[in-house]
Amino acid sequence: MTSAIQERADPDKNTAPDTALQDRRAAAAADPDGYWRDRGQAIDWIEPYTQVKDTSFDAADFRIRWFADGKLNVSANCLDRHLDTRGDQVAIIWEGDEPGETERVTYRDLHARVCKFANVLKAQGVAKGDRVTLYMPMIVEAAVAMLACARIGAVHSVVFGGFSPDSLAGRIEDCGSTFVITADEGCRGGKRIPLKANVDAALEKYAGVTRVVVVRRTGADIPMIAGRDIWYHEAMADASADCAPEPMDAEDPLFILYTSGSTGKPKGVLHSSGGYLVWTAVTFQEVFDYRDGDLFWCTADVGWVTGHSYVVYGPLASGATTVMFDGVPNYPDHGRFWETIDRLGVTIFYTAPTAIRALMREGDTWVARSSRTSLRLLGSVGEPINPEAWRWYHDVVGDGRCPIVDTWWQTETGGIMIAPSPHTAVGKPGSATKPLPGVMPQLVDAEGVVLDGATEGNLVIADSWPGQMRTVWGDHDRFFQTYFSTYPGKYFTGDGARRDADGDYWITGRVDDVINVSGHRMGTAEVESALVAHPRVAEAAVVGMPHEVKGQGIYAYVTLNAGDTGDDATRDELRAWVRREIGPIATPDALQFAPALPKTRSGKIMRRILRKIAEGDTTNLGDISTLADPSVVALLVKERIG
Ligand code: WT7
Repeated sequence: MTSAIQERADPDKNTAPDTALQDRRAAAAADPDGYWRDRGQAIDWIEPYTQVKDTSFDAADFRIRWFADGKLNVSANCLDRHLDTRGDQVAIIWEGDEPGETERVTYRDLHARVCKFANVLKAQGVAKGDRVTLYMPMIVEAAVAMLACARIGAVHSVVFGGFSPDSLAGRIEDCGSTFVITADEGCRGGKRIPLKANVDAALEKYAGVTRVVVVRRTGADIPMIAGRDIWYHEAMADASADCAPEPMDAEDPLFILYTSGSTGKPKGVLHSSGGYLVWTAVTFQEVFDYRDGDLFWCTADVGWVTGHSYVVYGPLASGATTVMFDGVPNYPDHGRFWETIDRLGVTIFYTAPTAIRALMREGDTWVARSSRTSLRLLGSVGEPINPEAWRWYHDVVGDGRCPIVDTWWQTETGGIMIAPSPHTAVGKPGSATKPLPGVMPQLVDAEGVVLDGATEGNLVIADSWPGQMRTVWGDHDRFFQTYFSTYPGKYFTGDGARRDADGDYWITGRVDDVINVSGHRMGTAEVESALVAHPRVAEAAVVGMPHEVKGQGIYAYVTLNAGDTGDDATRDELRAWVRREIGPIATPDALQFAPALPKTRSGKIMRRILRKIAEGDTTNLGDISTLADPSVVALLVKERIG
């Protein structure tokens, strides 16, 4: 049982919660070591730590280590330690694609399932430190598999079920995983997703996998490859429910999660065991103020970091009841979220602006069919929320009663970094407001000069926090170069932000070549390399464009081979090609054929100009005199899509 939950249940301590938050912020700034020595107790340690913060962002002695001499087990923290106090409490409410298709799993039951599956993994030869790839629907077995890996010290790498066989193969190969867990099929919005078939296709490209465990979800007739594939339910049938948790060093890896960067292929973001769990538990409690009796629903998929931190680890480490949703917001109709909130009694609801905008467009009547009286707190994550969507979320969904926590963070940060207090009734629509205790944001100009007061600049974090990623799998130098070399001594987020006179932060979006599509990150370089892999494409440049529902859409400029002009059919073919190469989320929203791309004399593509054209802001394209051939610009403007 975590002391933090008991503390918040104490009414005296809730009388001035925002003062207490300010005090914690001040305490963490004044003495990070002392502050985290205390907050590290939010989780249980097999061997207590004596060291706390041991970090430096400087090149000469670059290191990020937290609680380094402590030992713990993440699954024991999420399961075993709750058995005495809340063994019969529901840990996970699973809600399927079809409304009312639900399953309630208690902590005791989840513990037994995890122990069994941990024994299955061991029996199949998975050892501490081995990488295990998960390619699964949002089913309880996905959480079971994650926690079973954590129990034996294996490193999970969850790949979102919407990624293509190619993307999956690349992610399996990059981390050298020999073990894949999947399901026969997934169900989303009434459609079937051929997960096992995609795994088979991926493994035709990469042959290093020796074992595939398949969960039966739909009962589809799928081929099983003898000697490689085994059924989950068969392996579980005679597995023992007795499995001691492996004591792990705080710095041992817990998982890898691939995310897109501004260059090259996706990077394997590696998170630690101790610091990550402390961070997700503490931020979960701090931001959502979870209390016994609450029902927490984060709508994210476990294929993204939000699902890792706030569907699984943060809530379960805190002994909460968490909803796992295997459906989509608009199936069977646009009232799905609100109907489900009523039926399950959800008290805290956490979703993405893109979903809010999509549902807002369908009108208020879908919301009005539900009561939503159970709700007390709303959350937003993944991209800047526009004030119009914020207001609708607040006034219509929350009936004007529920505060909104707009949470800024990243795959790399492990958990929430900047967010309003859950006790603040009146928020600032579009501002994530203030850093959590222990987070040291700064705004810097292009030269790295720290800017004070109300201003705008690039967002950096000046000092380490426990949940920070530890490395890029297999490429520690890329880790340093990507995040710590732009502004030496500081972690660069890749985001721009504004700070107002109250000291509140307003994230303005990515300042690098990353596009945020529906709250999911897509590297422009990745889409470009998929496009140029097509035999008819000579060159491609991809930028973001404003999109009413997705926040940002993908705008691709494509130069075909000499003599090839391209038509609507070519456009469809190229969009389908990218979809197949990477996955549906990478499909270009607009694709313009460009006889040539605007380049400097040294051959560098001027993305600034392409971005402006994509945005439709063609009146002021800035200085184009440095272009090798300025005339291409007028042509691109003339044929702009939109
Ligand atoms: C990028 C990180 C955070 C987990 C899900 C996405 C953008 C995220 C907000 C917010 C404005 C936000 C940033 C960030 N972002 N939350 N509340 N307000 N922007 O994780 O895929 O790693 O993407 O999402 O641009 O850098 P991710």
